[in-house]
Amino acid sequence: MSRHRPAARMSIDRPFALRLAAPGDAAALEDLIALSTRVLQAPYYSREQIEGALGSVFAVDRQLIADGTYFVAQSGTTLAGCGGWSRRKTLFGGDAGRDAADDTLLDPSRDAARIRAFFVHPECARRGIGAAILDACERAAAKTGFTELELVATLAGVPLYARGGFRATESFDITLANGLPMPVVRMRKSIAQTAVATAGG
Ligand SMILES: CC(C)(COP(=O)(O)OP(=O)(O)OC[C@H]1O[C@@H](n2cnc3c(N)ncnc32)[C@H](O)[C@@H]1OP(=O)(O)O)[C@@H](O)C(=O)NCCC(=O)NCCS
Repeated sequence: MSRHRPAARMSIDRPFALRLAAPGDAAALEDLIALSTRVLQAPYYSREQIEGALGSVFAVDRQLIADGTYFVAQSGTTLAGCGGWSRRKTLFGGDAGRDAADDTLLDPSRDAARIRAFFVHPECARRGIGAAILDACERAAAKTGFTELELVATLAGVPLYARGGFRATESFDITLANGLPMPVVRMRKSIAQTAVATAGG
């Protein structure tokens, strides 16, 4: 897959490459998700909320990896970021405690594809990695025939998706495993015009 070197960001010291995640990435992805969440969500959520979400709301979804719809951004040997899209009903969360009905396949002619589980390494934040993965997801979903995208964003994720053309449709709370509420935002975007000629993934 293509290499990205954002011209406007002079602080980037190494390029990163996007590739599809493999089952063997799962352990490193769990580490990345925990690190990303604990550092980059600290301005938005309490420590108790973050710890209550890790392992369930913020965790690896192996179904996405199996479906070939989850990307990792790799910089050297470091996983610099991850994120994906889904043709299944689930909107957020890892493997733990998910009902099989949540994995129902969506109908591209009627349903919105999901954007899922974006996490960037804190040392690689604001270097265009999230935006590059989002673009790859959008193109892959369009290539599969979807014309709408939907996601549930953390408060930390809202600026990335708003910049990518998503609009907020609903704010609500997820109830975490420890009983605390976590405010999140449902967002949506039409990709009916997205060109698929160069779609990857
Ligand atoms: C949200 C997240 C994935 C963004 O990844 P990123 O690689 O840093 O984002 P990008 O560099 O591609 O940002 C693209 C644009 O989005 C917007 N943006 C991203 N993060 C932002 C922030 N913290 N504050 C304001 N705007 C932001 C900006 O417009 C940015 O462009 P700019 O840097 O030229 O101003 C990252 O902050 C993260 O991993 N957060 C913790 C986990 C999380 O909450 N994930 C979202 C799950 S829904």
